[in-house]
Amino acid sequence: MSASDKPKPAASGTVHRPIGVFDSGVGGLTVLSALRQRLPSEDLVYLGDTARVPYGTRSPETVINYSQRVASRLVREDIKALVIACNTATAHALEALQEAGARIGLPVIGVIEPGVQAALTASRGGTVAVLGTEGTIRAGRYQQALERAGTASIGQACSLLVPLAEEGWTTGEVAEAVAERYLAPLQGQVDTAILGCTHFPLLREVIQAALPGVVLVDSAETTAEAVAEILAEQGLLQAPRAPAPTRFLVTDNLERFVTVGHRFLGHAPDPVTLVDLPDPEGAFAAP
Ligand code: DGL
Repeated sequence: MSASDKPKPAASGTVHRPIGVFDSGVGGLTVLSALRQRLPSEDLVYLGDTARVPYGTRSPETVINYSQRVASRLVREDIKALVIACNTATAHALEALQEAGARIGLPVIGVIEPGVQAALTASRGGTVAVLGTEGTIRAGRYQQALERAGTASIGQACSLLVPLAEEGWTTGEVAEAVAERYLAPLQGQVDTAILGCTHFPLLREVIQAALPGVVLVDSAETTAEAVAEILAEQGLLQAPRAPAPTRFLVTDNLERFVTVGHRFLGHAPDPVTLVDLPDPEGAFAAP
């Protein structure tokens, strides 16, 4: 390990700072739940960019700009690590945010690499399906990472599953018909499918019915594990204690976030604060 690769010793007081987690809206709450389970002593602050959701149909440039703005806002919360709990934002903005984070000693973790690890563990050597938003599939990050690991993949955008999860229509004939329409071409072609969108774990039942015998993996738990490893490596792990209540920041429509968030978390997110996003600032300002 070269001197520059060595984890920086944590500055005094750093371990007590919160982990920042963000998504375009409510979907990242599935990752937040996994983080709470895996890292019960950590303080967490979640930002849902509900004013700009969905990210899944936007251009890479726009998603990078939104992600830089969210990261800038979370840095104001004095975070010690940043988790991109959104597949689309990870697909487009991970590199930009990691480069900026490295300038201020802020580790930035996305959901794609952990999702690929989960798929490689689950796969029995067959082809892996990647299910995601249009942006995630078009960016091809999952497919490239699988290819690097010598595993064939098929990407399938399933954009309509996002509003279905938001609406709470996660079972029943409409959800079944939509899942079947997207997934029928994959039947018999794949042995594993990555739920490469934060909303899809809520639709697990209908996705499984459309892909019988296929192992479904999601990145929430493996992402939480990756965060735990990075915090441990960098001396940033909080010692056992009762954490502060998780705080939620949203950029629009607080009431809807509480209602829909309840479905994702199993309880109403609270306290929730409405915030504005700054233009990218500090390390996250475009060079
Ligand atoms: N959170 C997004 C993702 O995981 C889905 C919702 C959106 O399109 O913004 O890709």
